[in-house]
Amino acid sequence: MHAVTLIKGDGIGPSIMDEAVKVIDASGVKIQWEEAYAGLAAFEQFGTPLPDETMASIDKTRLAFKGPLTTVVGTGFRSINVALRQKYDLYANVRPAKNWPGVQTRFDNVDIVIVRENTEGLYAGLEHYLTPKKDIAESLAVVTRAGSERIIEYAFKYARDNNRKKVTVCHKANILKYTQGLFLDVAREIAPKYPDIQFDEKIIDAACMHMVMDPTQFDVIVCTNMFGDILSDLTAGLVGGLGLIPGANIGTDAALFEAVHGSAPDITGKNLANPTAVIMAGVMMLHHLGEHDAADKIQTAVEKVVKEGKFVTPDLNPQSKCGTVEMGNAIVAAMK
Ligand code: NAI
Ligand code: MG
Repeated sequence: MHAVTLIKGDGIGPSIMDEAVKVIDASGVKIQWEEAYAGLAAFEQFGTPLPDETMASIDKTRLAFKGPLTTVVGTGFRSINVALRQKYDLYANVRPAKNWPGVQTRFDNVDIVIVRENTEGLYAGLEHYLTPKKDIAESLAVVTRAGSERIIEYAFKYARDNNRKKVTVCHKANILKYTQGLFLDVAREIAPKYPDIQFDEKIIDAACMHMVMDPTQFDVIVCTNMFGDILSDLTAGLVGGLGLIPGANIGTDAALFEAVHGSAPDITGKNLANPTAVIMAGVMMLHHLGEHDAADKIQTAVEKVVKEGKFVTPDLNPQSKCGTVEMGNAIVAAMK
């Protein structure tokens, strides 16, 4: 039995998380779900977007499965996603994007894993107005040698452990000589320790151009926080959209699994949200727990349903009359 803190989240969160829990439970793995609240849902219920009870649960389980949280722009509230990543020191955000059989896209053979530094950079939280009139604002990017070393080591180890050929560091060291320069320097220092893994460097803007022209030249990408945020939505777009891409937030003694996408207010309450991204986040979580058979069983079922294209949400097949719940049911049925 594994204890997992379950945060269903905001917007489409509860609907897709219900399907994910249903699918994971149907795989036969024994999970004790401990429901907790964060984000807007927590604010409405407890008056705070990150209640003590939620942190107490994660303190104990060290493992969270989380739906998207709405971060309202301009309210002064900090992102709870960023807060959780920093509190539990979830320094590695791993976001794999791969073509799916049955999902038509511009390119075949896309298979990219973004390894995003998840605790520092421009999302360190050092942002403020410099003047009482609030007409000058400043954000500070923090890049440390220790923070860079651990994420770049993580990327190379990930590449080695997962039979990958290449690690590309995407950076902007030409302009940001100190922060990005330090990150690139550390990458160059670590790369020779992994002679079996090819090392490449690309300036981030050029990397975006290369990625939309020929994404097959990328394998594992390592970068600082905000570049990883942006690039992972880009890679999602290359393989069929945000409805498909999971993410793992990994620290030394805690982990949190979620989709790359947000709370999707534009489709909330319409039974339109694709549950695949959070279900695949569940698959990553099961691998993390060593439950490889259950993980493989779910993945095979999801792939079958996506490939058939019949019981999928309209983001994958505009002709489909099927919704979140029907897709979840089809995945459960495919596991039998
Ligand atoms: P979003 O990722 O929620 O949505 C972007 C587009 O993708 C929308 O058109 C949406 O309908 C579509 N989409 C997203 N997930 C989908 C799914 N499962 N199935 C089908 N279509 C899907 O990004 P947006 O609208 O910029 O942000 C909404 C809120 O989510 C904001 O408050 C933002 O801060 C928050 N957010 C939270 C994240 C998290 O909890 N990890 C990550 C990203 C955003
Ligand atoms: Mg994002």
